Amino acid sequence: MTPDQFRRLGHRLVEWIADYREQCDKFPVRAVVEPGAVRAGLPPHPPEAAEDLEAALFADLERIIVPGLTHWQHPSFFAWFPGNANLASVLAELLAAGLGQNGINWQASPALTEVEEVTCDWMRQLLGLSTAWSGVIQDVASTATLVALLCARERATAYSQTRGGLQAEPAPLVVYATSEAHSSIEKAALLAGFGRLHLRTVATDDALAMRPDALAAMIADDRKAGLRPCAVVATIGSTATTAIDPLAAIVPIARAHGLWVHVDAAMAGTAMLLPECRPLWDGVEGADSIVLNPHKWLGVVGDCSLYYVRDPAHLVRVMSTNPSYLRTDADPDVHNFRDWGIPLGRRFRALKLWLHLRASGAEALRARLRRDLEHARWLAAEIDDTPHWRRIAPVRLQTVCVRHEPPGLSAEATDAHNLAWVEQLNQSGAALLTPAQVRGEWIVRISIGAEATEFRHVEALWQQMRALAESCVASPSSR
Ligand SMILES: Cc1ncc(COP(=O)(O)O)c(C=O)c1O
Repeated sequence: MTPDQFRRLGHRLVEWIADYREQCDKFPVRAVVEPGAVRAGLPPHPPEAAEDLEAALFADLERIIVPGLTHWQHPSFFAWFPGNANLASVLAELLAAGLGQNGINWQASPALTEVEEVTCDWMRQLLGLSTAWSGVIQDVASTATLVALLCARERATAYSQTRGGLQAEPAPLVVYATSEAHSSIEKAALLAGFGRLHLRTVATDDALAMRPDALAAMIADDRKAGLRPCAVVATIGSTATTAIDPLAAIVPIARAHGLWVHVDAAMAGTAMLLPECRPLWDGVEGADSIVLNPHKWLGVVGDCSLYYVRDPAHLVRVMSTNPSYLRTDADPDVHNFRDWGIPLGRRFRALKLWLHLRASGAEALRARLRRDLEHARWLAAEIDDTPHWRRIAPVRLQTVCVRHEPPGLSAEATDAHNLAWVEQLNQSGAALLTPAQVRGEWIVRISIGAEATEFRHVEALWQQMRALAESCVASPSSR
C-alpha cells in the first residue's frame, strides 16, 4: 500500500470507526452468529492478486465482521469486565503502528523507551504508589504474573536458573493463592515449574477474601513437611466478585517467611486512581510486584498491562539476555525493556496509555470511575430492597453479583433458573451479563464500567433482569 492509498483508505476507515462508535448501541450486545459463520463468509484461500480494499473492505466489515462482533463498547455491555477502548487510545494504536517501531533496545527506539518510562511513572503517581516502584508495560496480566512468579522462584533459589534450575533444587517451592484467584495464577505457577502439587489454595472468609490465619498455618505446615514456601499472590479485585485479599495482614506473614508477594490488581487496580479506594490495597507498599490492566476499566485499547516492581535489578537479572548484536554504548545509562519481561520485540504500547491520559485528564477519569461505583451501589441497594433477589458478595467496586431465588426451588433448580433468565437476557441482545459459579452456586455478575454506560442503561438493565427472571417459569419437576 502506498502512502497515498493509505491516506485515502485511512480517512474512510477513521470515519467508519467513528460511525461504529456512535451507533454501537443499535447492535445486539452479543454476537449473533453461529460458530463457523464468520469463517464460512471468508474465502478459503489467500488472494493471488492484490484486491481493491476500498471496494471490498467496507462491504466485508458490514457483511462478515460486524455480525461476528460482541460489542464491548456498547453501553449495555455488563459482561466479564469493562474492556474500554477509548478513542484517543485507538488513535494512538494507529500511530504506534504507523511509526513501525521495535524497541529491542533503547537505541532501536529511544522515544519508545522513554515515553514508556514516563507514562509508567505518571500512572504510579496517579495510583498513589511511592517512588520505590518502577514500572514497565507488559502485554497482559497473565504474562506479568508469570514474570512475577519466575522472579519469586529465582529469588528463593538464589538464581537456580544459572545452575541446574528447579530440577536441581533440594526441596519443592510452594505458591499460595485463593480459589478466587484468576486462572492466570495457576497457569503461571504451572508454567514456572512449581507443579500443581505445590500450588496451595488458601481458605477464604465470608467475603471470599484470603484468610491470613489460614495462609500462616499452610506456610507452617509446608515448612514442617520440608517444603519451601516461595510466593503468595494476593488478589485485589477477584474476577468473579471483586473480592479483596487483605494485603496489610498478608504482607507481614509473607515477609516473616521470605515469600514474594505479587499483587494481582488486573481489574481493580484502576480504582486506585481514587484516593477513597486506596484503603482496599492497604499494605501494597510491602509487596514485591503489582500488575494492573489499563486495558480494562481505565480505557486503554488492549493490550496494555502495567507491571510494577520494587527491585528492577532483580527483574533484569532474571530476564536479561545480552547477545552481541543488541549491545550498545548507551546500555549503562538506559533501560532496555527487553530485560524487564519475556518478549524481545517491543511495540510502542505506551503511546496509547500516554495519549489516553492526556486526552482525558486524571480528573475526568476519576469522575467516570466514581460514576460507575455509584451505579454499582445503586444497583446493589435495589437488589437488597427486592424480595427473592440475593446479593451474594459485598460490592467493593463496580461489580454486583446476584442470584434470583424464587421460593420453593431446590438449589439445582435455582441454578438452572438463573442460567435460564440470564441466557434469555443475553439472547435478547438488550444487554450482556456473565454467569459464574461462586461457592458452587450459579450466580450472575453485573460488571459495570463501559465508558458509554450511563445511569439509564443500568436502570433499564435492572428492569429487564426483573422482568425476565420473575416471569421465567421453572420446570415443576425440578422443584
Ligand atoms: C483479577 C484478574 N487477573 C488477571 C486477569 C487476566 O488478565 P489478562 O487477560 O490481561 O491476562 C484477569 C482478567 O479478567 C483478572 O480479572
